Amino acid sequence: MIILIASQKGGAGKTTIATNLAAKLAIDSDVLLLDADRQPSATEWCIERKENHPKRPRVNCVQRYDDIDDTLDDLKDRYEYIVVDTPGKDSIEMRSAMLVADIIIIPVRPSQTDLNTIPVVSRIINQSKKINPNVKVFGLLTMASTNSQVKEIKEATEFFLDFPSIPLLDVVISDRKIYRDNMSEGLSVVETGNLSDSAAKAKEEINLLYKGIVGGH
Ligand SMILES: Nc1ncnc2c1ncn2[C@@H]1O[C@H](COP(=O)(O)OP(=O)(O)OP(=O)(O)O)[C@@H](O)[C@H]1O
Ligand SMILES: [Mg+2]
Repeated sequence: MIILIASQKGGAGKTTIATNLAAKLAIDSDVLLLDADRQPSATEWCIERKENHPKRPRVNCVQRYDDIDDTLDDLKDRYEYIVVDTPGKDSIEMRSAMLVADIIIIPVRPSQTDLNTIPVVSRIINQSKKINPNVKVFGLLTMASTNSQVKEIKEATEFFLDFPSIPLLDVVISDRKIYRDNMSEGLSVVETGNLSDSAAKAKEEINLLYKGIVGGH
């Protein structure tokens, strides 16, 4: 199963979602993390993980650029899951991966400037559905402030109602330091030994994300 993490906006939290999800899936599946971003943060996460946490569930990593649909087609039978991290802009990598993905997750911060990218993303997705009609697409609110969350989330949720091709997942990923810390260490928040309230909530968020997108399969 190919899970594509894509957005038209830089810094939406794609790599954070890709790495956390890959590590969660790797607990009981064969997982490949395909880094299609030439600013290779996902690859850096993989290198940290391999060097400093070799006993953690293995996440295989490769870097591929430009048209990646044929590569993904070739690799998809070798892994149970392929998680694809894409550049922070409209790119050939994003568009080609959309042609073969089983699931597309669109992370977006609940701010108006980030939400303003959704109409274009929706049009690109509708185009790709002409070739890949069975793809499942989900929006995911990320980096939501833990203070003013309720109002922001309500406004973003209402905004998404105009884009039925991108249903929002119920889970919201909040802005939590543990996500930043674990990314630089090559870990996932589901692997943290830190039992602070915020760390426990982050872990719950990734577990819910997992259930929301692959739990039913
Ligand atoms: N939920 C979160 N809580 C706190 N910090 C976060 C969260 N998600 C991402 N970040 C931080 O925000 C920054 C951008 O996140 P990330 O690299 O995941 O975004 P991206 O969409 O992959 O960016 P790019 O478009 O540049 O590839 C990083 O420093 C990351 O650690
Ligand atoms: Mg990234």
